[in-house]
Amino acid sequence: MYPLEKDGLLPAPAPVRQASRLALSKSFCFLLATVCAGIALYILGPQCLSRQFVASYGEVTLKEVLCPQESPLVPSESGELWKELSETYGTKEFFLQAVELLVGAVKVPTESFDKMAPVGQDPRWEVFAPFHDYLLVTFPNVHATLKLTKVNTYGLVYVWEGLDASLKPLLLTAHQDVVPVNPETVAEWVHPPFSGYFDGERIWGRGSFDDKSVLISIMTTVETLIEKDFKPARTVFLAFGFDEETDGLHGASAISKYLLETYGENAFSMLVDEGGLYGVEYGQAYATVGTTEKGAVDVRVEVASPGGHSSIPPAHTSIGILSQLLVHIESQPYKAELKRGTPMYQMAQCLAAHAPELPSKVRKAIEKADKSDKALKAAEKALFTDIRFKALAGTTQAVDLVQGGVKANALPENAWAVVNHRIATDSSVGATQEHDTKLLLHLARQFNLSYSAFGQQIGDADAPAYGTLTLSDAWNTALEPAPVTPSAGGDAGAFRLLAGTIKTVYQVHRNVTDGETVIVSPGIMSGNTDTRYYWQLTKNIFRYSHWWTGTESGLMGGTHSVNEFIFADGFLEMIRFYTALVLNADESQSI
Ligand SMILES: *[C@@H]1O[C@H](CO)[C@@H](O)[C@H](O)[C@H]1NC(C)=O
Ligand SMILES: *[C@@H]1O[C@H](CO)[C@@H](O)[C@H](O)[C@H]1NC(C)=O
Repeated sequence: MYPLEKDGLLPAPAPVRQASRLALSKSFCFLLATVCAGIALYILGPQCLSRQFVASYGEVTLKEVLCPQESPLVPSESGELWKELSETYGTKEFFLQAVELLVGAVKVPTESFDKMAPVGQDPRWEVFAPFHDYLLVTFPNVHATLKLTKVNTYGLVYVWEGLDASLKPLLLTAHQDVVPVNPETVAEWVHPPFSGYFDGERIWGRGSFDDKSVLISIMTTVETLIEKDFKPARTVFLAFGFDEETDGLHGASAISKYLLETYGENAFSMLVDEGGLYGVEYGQAYATVGTTEKGAVDVRVEVASPGGHSSIPPAHTSIGILSQLLVHIESQPYKAELKRGTPMYQMAQCLAAHAPELPSKVRKAIEKADKSDKALKAAEKALFTDIRFKALAGTTQAVDLVQGGVKANALPENAWAVVNHRIATDSSVGATQEHDTKLLLHLARQFNLSYSAFGQQIGDADAPAYGTLTLSDAWNTALEPAPVTPSAGGDAGAFRLLAGTIKTVYQVHRNVTDGETVIVSPGIMSGNTDTRYYWQLTKNIFRYSHWWTGTESGLMGGTHSVNEFIFADGFLEMIRFYTALVLNADESQSI
C-alpha cells in the first residue's frame, strides 16, 4: 500500500459504530424489533410462523436487492485436488513450512525510498537481488516450470503457460518492496524489524503483512500446485513490482509497459492485487473487495510579491497572503456526499442487509435510501460521523507542505504550499482543479494578484498587479480515480468468481458446516496501489488479499509503522485463497 495511508485499506463500518451512540441502544432496538415482529405476526396470522414464508417474501428478497450474494464456489474439475490440498493445508507440518517461507522473505530487507534514481544508478535497488535469490532457492518448482522475465532488472513477471490459449490469462500481482524502517524507531519494535520472528501465533517484521504475505502466498500456491502435478488450462501470470511503496514508477510502471507491448490491451481476464478488508463488522464477517481507488492531485499554491527590506513592509507579505489563502481553503472543505450507485453506497447497503448489530435506525435509512432522498441524507449523516467513511466518499484536502522566506529582515518574494487531494471516485482531476481555482479567485482579486491556474491565465494578464498567484500540479503526478470494476450485472463474472471463491475459503478454513458465511461487498481502496499502472490490462481489477483482521479493525496499524505483523493462521488462509482462486479461475466459463 502507498505510504500516505496509515491504514490504506478501506475501513468499512466503524462509521456507524459512532452513530450508534446517538441511535437507540442495541438492546432496546432488539426489544423493539421483537415487539414489532410480534405485532406483525399477530396481524398477518399464523402462516407467518412458517419460517419459509418469512424467508421467501420478507428478509431474503430485501437482502438480495440491497446486497446480492454469490454461493460458495468450489472447484469442481479440480475438486479432488482442492479437497486434498484443503487437508494438506490443515496439517501442522504444512503450517510450519508455510510460516518458514514467509519468515525467510521478511528476513531479506527490501526497502524502497522516495525519489530514488533509476535502476543501475541508485545502488539502493540492489537489495532486490538477494530477494530474487531467496525466491529462486525457495520455490524450485516455480522456477523450473514458469517462464521468468525480469523487467527493469528487478520487476518479476512469471508466466505459467496454460493448455488452452483461447482462455484469457489470470494476473496475480504483489510487490517485493517494503516501507523503510525509520532507524529512530528500531528500539520500539518488540522484535527486530527484519527478524521475521515467529512467536507461535504471529510473524513479526516489516513486510510480514504488506506485502510479502501476498507475494509468498501466491508463490507457495503455485509451488504446491506444481508439486501436485496440476497443469492449468488458463495461463497464469504473476507480476511483482519493486517500488509500490514509493510510487511504482520504476517497477509496476515498467511491468505494465512490458505487458501491454507484449500482450496488448485487455489481454487479461482479471487482476488481483493487494487490498481489501476482511474482518468482522457489527457481528458479521465481511470481505470488502476494492473495485476502485480514489484519484489524487497535489496542488501547489504559490504567491510571489515584491521583495525588499523589511523595515518598510507592506501590509501583507507573500507569506501573509499565502496564509490567508490556506485559511480560506481549510474553511471551505469539499462537500462529501453519499451517492447512489457508488462503491461506498454499495458497502452501506451490504451492511444494512447483513450486519445483525447495525443500529436499526441506520439500517432503515439505508434500506429506504434507494427511493427516498430524505432517507439517503439520514444514512449519509449517520455514516459520515465516521471521518474515515466520509473521507472515502468525498474529495479530501490536506495542506501538507509549506515554505517561504529566506531571511528574518528580508521580505519574502515567494511563498508556496502544497495541498494534497484525494479525489472522490465520481469526480476527476479536472473538477478538483476547477474547484480550487474558483475558491481562490476572490482572494486573488482582493490582494491584487495576477492569477494563473494550471497553465491558464485567469482574468487580464496585462493589468497592473501587486504580485502573482499560481496554482499548479506540484509534481505532475495527478491521478484520475480508477475505473470502477463491474460488481453487478452481465459484466460482473469476474467479481462473482472472486466472491464465490472468498466464500468457499472462509468456510473451508473454519470448517464451517452450518452455513455461516462471509458477506462480500464492493468497496474503495483508500490508498493507491500498483494497479494505477494496470488499468489497460483488464477491466476486472480487484484490490483484495484476503487479509483476515478478525474483529480488530486496527490490526493493520503496524503496516507502515512499528511492529508490523501477521497472524500465521491468517497467512495460511491466504494460501487457501490463492489456491482456490487459481483453480476456480482455471475452470471458469464466466471470465
Ligand atoms: C494593483 O497593484 C498595482 C501595482 O502595485 C497597482 O498599479 C494597481 O493600481 C493595483 N490595482 C488595484 C485594483 O489595487
Ligand atoms: C469439521 O467439522 C466436523 C463437524 O463439526 C467435524 O466432524 C470434523 O472433524 C471437522 N474437521 C476438522 C478438520 O476440524
